[in-house]
Amino acid sequence: MLKDTRIVLGVTGGIAVYKAVELLRLLTKAGACVHVIMTRAAQEFVTPLTFQTLSSHPVHSELFNLIAEQEIGHISLADRANLFVIAPATANVIGKIANGIADDLLTTTAMATKAPVLIAPAMNVNMYTNPIYRENEEKLRRLGYLFVPPEKGALACGWEGEGKLAAPETIFEAIAAALRPRDLAGQTVMVTAGPTREEIDPVRFISNHSSGRMGYAIAGAARQRGARVILVSGPTGLAVPAGVERVCVESARDMQAAVMRHVKECSVVIKAAAVADYRPAERKGDKIKKQAAEMTLTLVKNPDILAELGHLKKHPFLVGFAAETSCLEEYAARKLAEKKLDMIVANDVSSCDAGFNVDTNRALLLFKDGSRQDCPLMSKDELANRILDEVVSRLPARRNH
Ligand code: PMT
Repeated sequence: MLKDTRIVLGVTGGIAVYKAVELLRLLTKAGACVHVIMTRAAQEFVTPLTFQTLSSHPVHSELFNLIAEQEIGHISLADRANLFVIAPATANVIGKIANGIADDLLTTTAMATKAPVLIAPAMNVNMYTNPIYRENEEKLRRLGYLFVPPEKGALACGWEGEGKLAAPETIFEAIAAALRPRDLAGQTVMVTAGPTREEIDPVRFISNHSSGRMGYAIAGAARQRGARVILVSGPTGLAVPAGVERVCVESARDMQAAVMRHVKECSVVIKAAAVADYRPAERKGDKIKKQAAEMTLTLVKNPDILAELGHLKKHPFLVGFAAETSCLEEYAARKLAEKKLDMIVANDVSSCDAGFNVDTNRALLLFKDGSRQDCPLMSKDELANRILDEVVSRLPARRNH
């Protein structure tokens, strides 16, 4: 996944240094070539030998080390990196970088590198909320430095609060995201996600098992690849991915209104939402009382938002989903043609590891030019990127029409 990627991992002093060991393990396992720079303080917590063994490269710590300078000096380290990661980063090192102080190998390399810099802070909660620290972080963010925010929890100093180094897996994800190509820069992508709710009365509704995870994964990935992202979301318990503009809706008709309001701004629309095909003919104003042994609910058809988009005179690149329990390819191909889509993601939702309310999915991608691609079981984040790879590769050809 990170094959041929050169990462410089800067490690500063703090109890969380042990997590940097795990991060290094994840990076090398993913194929990255990692050079480690440790400050003196970091070496008080874990010896360089641990990092050297796991990275298969000597650990750098001295600014003026003649042998290292000949082989791979700090400028060379800075030049060669695709990404410079500092984890854990103390308030001290962040303060130095924010103020242009370069008095050791790590800060000198940070100053010299042209690579993106990703910082994972770890410190006491009072330091983290100190206005001086906040100003330093804000300044670096404005300058384009990337941050992986610390977590809340019990801190080594005995305090409780924000300041705990993010989990190695979280930092790893942020690294992978920072290295991803920004091939959707300049595009506005609308993604729909989650279920819709069709109210029966003030306390009951018709809905489905969609958790929103598939759509949110696409929205987050599109944002990481540089797009402006509008996420039209039915009710879910999910947090908005960083930088994504969310529009919350309840019913299919709310979703239709939101989608049609924003469609003119978009070059791509991806409809991962599980929209209710029918709604109650009438929504009762009062709670329906329990009376007869049987009750009939009359349903009427909801608007088909995707079909409406497909039939627009000029429409964005359109990606639909097909949730099927049988005849996957046949039904999906029919939806692709009938709704005039550019591409459809067909998922078999009868399988317990794919589709609704799980973290994984497997899909068959069908395209309007008749081509097809199988995506075996993978995380929804991975599938999101596979879908976007296809969108990116097909967008320019379409613009030439
Ligand atoms: O949310 P998760 O728990 O992560 O689950 C993901 C998912 C299973 C919901 C997702 O992968 C998926 O398959 N979404 C589409 C579900 C669906 O409604 O499929 P469909 O075959 O009924 O609809 C076909 C397409 O038309 C879909 O893109 C749908 O958004 C769209 N549609 C459907 C009905 C309608 N009235 N308007 C629409 O726009």
